[in-house]
Amino acid sequence: MSATAKPDLMSVEEAKHLRHEDVADLMANYISPGQLRLLKLLGFDRVIIDHAEGMYYVDQCGRKILDFFGGYGSLAFGHNHPRILTARRTFSDEKRHEIALAFMSQYAAALSYNLAQIAPGDLDITFLCVSGSEANEAALKLAERAATGRKPTVLYANNAFHGKTRGALSVSDSELYRGDFQLLQNTRRVPFGDVAALDRVLSRDRSIGVFILETIQGGAGIVLPPDGYLRAVRELCDRYGVVWIADEVQCGYGRTGRFFAFEHEEVVPDIVTLAKSLGGGKAAVGAYIARRPVFVKAYGTSKTALVHGPATFAGMGEACATAIEALHTLYDEELIDNAAAQGAYLQERLGALKHKHPGLIADIRGRGLMVGLEMTNISKSMPRGFRTLVSMLDERLRGGLAAIVGSLLLHEYDVLVAFTEYDRNVIRLEPPLIVQREHVDQLADSLDDLLSRDFTRIAMDYVRKVKLASGQRQLIGGAA
Ligand SMILES: Cc1ncc(COP(=O)(O)O)c(C=O)c1O
Repeated sequence: MSATAKPDLMSVEEAKHLRHEDVADLMANYISPGQLRLLKLLGFDRVIIDHAEGMYYVDQCGRKILDFFGGYGSLAFGHNHPRILTARRTFSDEKRHEIALAFMSQYAAALSYNLAQIAPGDLDITFLCVSGSEANEAALKLAERAATGRKPTVLYANNAFHGKTRGALSVSDSELYRGDFQLLQNTRRVPFGDVAALDRVLSRDRSIGVFILETIQGGAGIVLPPDGYLRAVRELCDRYGVVWIADEVQCGYGRTGRFFAFEHEEVVPDIVTLAKSLGGGKAAVGAYIARRPVFVKAYGTSKTALVHGPATFAGMGEACATAIEALHTLYDEELIDNAAAQGAYLQERLGALKHKHPGLIADIRGRGLMVGLEMTNISKSMPRGFRTLVSMLDERLRGGLAAIVGSLLLHEYDVLVAFTEYDRNVIRLEPPLIVQREHVDQLADSLDDLLSRDFTRIAMDYVRKVKLASGQRQLIGGAA
C-alpha cells in the first residue's frame, strides 16, 4: 500500500451512529482511559447525546435531559439557538472569509466595537482568541508590560482557577492541576475577599504589579467576595500602582444579572477576560478587553503591536459573526434580566429545600444564574448514632453525597448538574440564561423528591442503579 493511501478513517455519519459501548472503547483507546473511569463512576458513560436544543440534550433513545450544567457558563443561549444558527448559516452560504491575517477583518472590528459599547469606562480595546486560558495568558502578559516600574510579581487569590495553560496555571490554586510542573516563579497568593490581607501584601511587597481575580470564584464552588471588596480592590490597585485583571470567563456575559459581575459594585478593572458564552454556544471565542491607556502603554506602537497577537485563529470570520449575533440576541431577548429574575427564583426554591433537608444541604449561595448547592459531609447526613464514627472518613468521602445526588438526578430525573473541582461537596447550577420558571421547578421538584428519601436509601439507590449497572467496585470518594 502506498504511504499516502487513505487510512481506514471513520466518517461523521459513522460517528453519529456509534453506540455508547463503542464510544467508550474509542475514548479509552484514543482519548483518556482515566477520564472514562471518572465518567463511569457517575454512570455518565451510559448516555450518548444525539442532539440538543434549547434547555435540553436529547440522547440516542430520545430521552430529554434538562441542562442545569450549561457547559460551566458556556451556554447562555441554550443549545443551538435558531437565531445564532441562521447567522452562521448565512455567513457560510455567502462564502465569507474566515482567516484575514493579511487584511483587516470587518467582523473582528465590529465585534470589538460592540464589546466597547457594552463595557463600562474606557474598557475599549479587545484582543480576540479561542479560550478562557488563552485570554488570561494574554491579559497577564499585557498587564506585566503595562505595570509601572519594575513590578514583576503577579498576585492571585486562594482557590482561584484561571485555566490550565502554564501562565494561567501559575496563578491558579490547585495542588492537583499544578502537580510538579515548573510554573512561573513571580507569583504570590492572597486570601480571596479579604481587604485587610490585600492591603497588607500590596503595601509590603512593592514588586507586585498585577492582581488577577475571578469576580466570583467558580471552580472554588461559587464563592462571592463580601460586599465592598471589589471597590476596595480598585482603590488599593490605584494606590499601589497595580494592574487589576478581572477574570469573568465564567461569571461574565450576563449570568449574574449584569453583563459583567463587577458592575454590581460599579467599578472598572484595567482588563477583563471573557470566553465561554461569548461564542454563543457554537464557536470558540475568548477575549480580553483592556482600558485604552493600559493597552497603548503595552502594545501601542507598530514595533510592539505584534508582541502578542494576532494568533492564527484569532477573530475567525464565522466565530466573530456568531459572537456579534449572540450579543444582539442577549439584549433583544432580555436575557440578562431573565438571569436576575430566574436566578432569584432558583435561590428561593433551593433555600426552601435547605430548610426542609438540613441534614443534606449545607448551603445555597450565588448570584443570578451562578448558584452553588453545597451538600453536607457524609457523616452529617447519617443517622445520629453513626455520625461520630463516620466523621473520621469525611475528608476521604468529601463530595460523595454531591456525586451521588448529581448522578441520581441524571439517571432518575433526567436533570444534568455540574460538579466542582476544588470543593467536591458543591453542585454547580449554571443553566442557560433562557431558562424559565418551569425548568427551575423541574430541577427543584426533582431534588426535593430525591432528598426526601433518607441518606441510606439515596446511597443504596445509587449503588443499585448506577454502580452495579456500570460494573463499578471503587468507593465513590474522589469521584467528582
Ligand atoms: C474563571 C475561569 N477562568 C478561566 C477558565 C479557563 O477557560 P478555558 O477552559 O476556556 O481555557 C475557566 C474555565 O472554566 C474559568 O472558569
